[in-house]
Amino acid sequence: MPTPIENKSLKNLNTFGIDARARYFSAFSSADELAGLLDWAGGRRKVVLGGGSNILLTGDIDGIVLQNAIKGIELVDEDEEHVYVRAGAGEDWTRFVDYCIGRDWAGVENLSLIPGSVGAAPMQNIGAYGMELENVFLELDAWSLADRNVRTFTLGDCEFGYRDSVFKRHYRDQSVILSVTLRLRKKPIFHTGYGAVQDELDRMGVKELSIRAISQAVIAIRRSKLPDPAQIGNAGSFFKNPIVAGDQFAQLQAKFPGIVGYPDPLGQRTKLAAGWLIEQCGWKGYRKGDAGVHERQALVLVNYGNARGADIYRLGEEIAASVRDKFGVSLEREVNLL
Ligand code: EPU
Repeated sequence: MPTPIENKSLKNLNTFGIDARARYFSAFSSADELAGLLDWAGGRRKVVLGGGSNILLTGDIDGIVLQNAIKGIELVDEDEEHVYVRAGAGEDWTRFVDYCIGRDWAGVENLSLIPGSVGAAPMQNIGAYGMELENVFLELDAWSLADRNVRTFTLGDCEFGYRDSVFKRHYRDQSVILSVTLRLRKKPIFHTGYGAVQDELDRMGVKELSIRAISQAVIAIRRSKLPDPAQIGNAGSFFKNPIVAGDQFAQLQAKFPGIVGYPDPLGQRTKLAAGWLIEQCGWKGYRKGDAGVHERQALVLVNYGNARGADIYRLGEEIAASVRDKFGVSLEREVNLL
């Protein structure tokens, strides 16, 4: 079992770059190591971290922070159409996507360059440019903190929703994801329906579509809109895009003709672009101290260097209040508070 380190700065372990401290810290590379560390920690508070790309640390952690470092990517099975690929939860998601693209395994190319770990991907059902993890998910293995057994969760067990799963709700803080298995295609089905992707492919002059070309287009779009956490601390979208009933959308449209929304096929519910709502409230490019709102994407809050988690949290609350006042719409945080 690794020996925990005392009084560890977490600045490099969260993409917001918040300099909170952990009383104790250790990485673990297997369920056995995790069990040993939990025994060592006894009654102390325990926090398990993945890539730290979807969290906001609002203070020091007076307990033990355990970083999932379970590695390995393995082809576990294949049939005529598919490959079944298992990856350790501690693998870097982007490295995993590149690994798949390098072998012509299709299905994750639209999810290129999303910061974070493989284990965090199912927790919030990561999604981008018309694809979500659930579209390629087969199953995952998770370790229960209560009885220390490994349980396999199938697609149905995970109850995936928009940036949501059972691991954000019922199993929150109760289980640790060990590995994730995806079903990828040998022959790709291209998803270029999300406007910006096709535009970027055209701009790149791509004549023959491939998963590599889609990945490159997605990477170019992300780089143009989203700040690189290595340069400016951030955790991607700070809020979810809110979903409103169709009639509320019609009322909002009457009052705010430019409002951006994506109705479901039946027109019963509409997903609003939270970035638009926030921009309309005048926040885009706002900065107070080192906490701010990204100048190219109002849905992304940023840390220019030494912001504290509480500064970012307060800014988020102010933004949500102003959107509620102007539009009567509540914003729900996508980022998890710790
Ligand atoms: N918009 C504005 N102003 C802004 C930002 C956006 O008016 O400052 C409007 C524009 O009309 C734009 C629309 O909002 O066309 C949508 O913006 P964008 O394409 O950037 O996507 P998003 O809805 O803001 C979502 C995901 C992103 C994902 C992109 C692309 C959520 C909460 N966010 O953002 O995911 O990369 O779509 O698929 O669903 C993340 O989860 O951390 C994340 C970055």
